[in-house]
Amino acid sequence: MSFKTITPAPARLNRCELAVPGSSVKLFEKAAKSAADVVFLDLEDAVAPDDKPQARKNIVQALHDIDWGRKVMSVRINGLDTHYMYRDVVEVIEGAGDKLDLIMVPKVGTAADIYAVDMLLTQIETAKGFKKRIGIEAIIETALGMQNIHEIAAASPRMESLHFGVADYAASTRARTTSIGGPNALYGVLTDKDGDKPRDYFWGDMWHYAISRMVVAARANGLRPIDGPFGDFSDNEGYTAQANRAAILGCEGKWAIHPAQIPLANTVYTPPEAEVTKARRILEAMKEAQAKGQGAVALDGKLIDIASIRQAEGIVKQAELIAK
Ligand code: GLV
Ligand code: MG
Repeated sequence: MSFKTITPAPARLNRCELAVPGSSVKLFEKAAKSAADVVFLDLEDAVAPDDKPQARKNIVQALHDIDWGRKVMSVRINGLDTHYMYRDVVEVIEGAGDKLDLIMVPKVGTAADIYAVDMLLTQIETAKGFKKRIGIEAIIETALGMQNIHEIAAASPRMESLHFGVADYAASTRARTTSIGGPNALYGVLTDKDGDKPRDYFWGDMWHYAISRMVVAARANGLRPIDGPFGDFSDNEGYTAQANRAAILGCEGKWAIHPAQIPLANTVYTPPEAEVTKARRILEAMKEAQAKGQGAVALDGKLIDIASIRQAEGIVKQAELIAK
């Protein structure tokens, strides 16, 4: 390990993060009763400009009046390039900051964007005497944000998670798509010519680089990497495939933009019983090996060593958090 220690963000479940427009009050109760780990009440793109003042009021009231149970509560403010943003922070945090766990900042471009939000939060929390520090979730969804992702991840001790905003990222990078997430048939590989044999065509994952880069920046700073939206809410298979790809790369959860997507995210991001049992067996086998002064042993015909302990511990820790 490096001499530099990484302080992890507070341990929270973030398997499914449900997006709820702040203007759609009728959806709030259902969201509170849902199985999502995190709910973010939106003031940004799901809310029309004329509805933003009322949406702020709805959110403040809902944070006080609705029983959100054990949910982690977040609010997505507008971008720092808009004149809505300062009012979002001042009204919502002054009005209900003690009921909030997180604030979600969209279209973060530089570490200074986080610094600015941190400064405002600090002033309001101090003025209001709030005891709990609000954490920050940053959406990486522009070319600028992706370029500066490492500085953004390290920008404040409030930082808790990075989120991949695939729709705006596609717009910002001018990716040739109008879908929100998912693969594209044109992003594929054609196998080489081999005589008269028919050639195969394999689809690739056009979001692989972005998600991998986000996972690295998040983990290097102790943050949770979270995959963003999948627009086709009638395509459960497509959602699950995308969620699996991100999970395999290291993400801890995915957004749901529709209640139908909540159980899908929870299934993908809950380590299966067999995986947890295997992880526990690895820890047990390595404990025995170390007691005998061995650094590596065979388990089920495969080599395991001290790195296997670190892999297995991640799975067991997540399973314990879920079981709490
Ligand atoms: C989310 O905000 C996205 O742009 O995908
Ligand atoms: Mg966006």
